[in-house]
Amino acid sequence: MSAIIPVITIDGPTASGKGTVAQRVASALGWGVLDSGALYRLTALAVQQQAIDPDNESAVANVAATLDVQFRLGQILLGGQEVSELIRQEHVGNLASRLAPNPKLRAALLSRQRAFRLAPGLVADGRDMGTIVFPDAQVKIFLIADVQARAQRRAKQLIEKGISANLEDLLADMRVRDARDTQRSVAPLIAAKDAHVVDSSTLTIDQTVQSILDLWSRILSTPPSLGV
Ligand code: DC
Repeated sequence: MSAIIPVITIDGPTASGKGTVAQRVASALGWGVLDSGALYRLTALAVQQQAIDPDNESAVANVAATLDVQFRLGQILLGGQEVSELIRQEHVGNLASRLAPNPKLRAALLSRQRAFRLAPGLVADGRDMGTIVFPDAQVKIFLIADVQARAQRRAKQLIEKGISANLEDLLADMRVRDARDTQRSVAPLIAAKDAHVVDSSTLTIDQTVQSILDLWSRILSTPPSLGV
């Protein structure tokens, strides 16, 4: 009998801090990380580079199915080109959000995402990690933060990277993106029924990370049910 590989899912809106929290939880546990948003962003970048019509659902799904991507020690290579900075740009994120409701695209990315479930464990962040991709995850977190706090965080990140940022534009983009991610009919941004909702606008990153590690420790110390 093969042992179940544990997964912790962290879903939430853009700039809720889920990427940083996922990295920190994974490094504390010695587990791998799946940044599922990066796969949507990589698809968006490839769609743009190949001048594919974003409304052509089959063509976009085909781009996702055939993405030549490698994740290596903090680097992301698309067709051999380092693109980790490029995919963080706002226009790439906005296109990713626009493409994301396409059910064929989501189906094409499903097995790629599940392939990240490797021993000793995985921390997966995104929008539908706990609802669709890893519905059997041992710990599910829904990380929220108010939109002002998230826009300020994103502006700071961009400025630190030397990319110009306008707070009002970011706020407006974020509201549009939140509405689109939440209201789409396919795999919307929604808390799984068994998710723990954590509000990161009132917690530091350390506190958020610790609360997730505590949830995992609690599961480890709970004796397995006999299933009778
Ligand atoms: O997390 P992010 O901002 O990098 O994600 C970019 C876009 O990709 C997001 O606006 C919606 C889409 N996405 C998704 O639909 N499902 C996921 N699991 C992750 C991202």
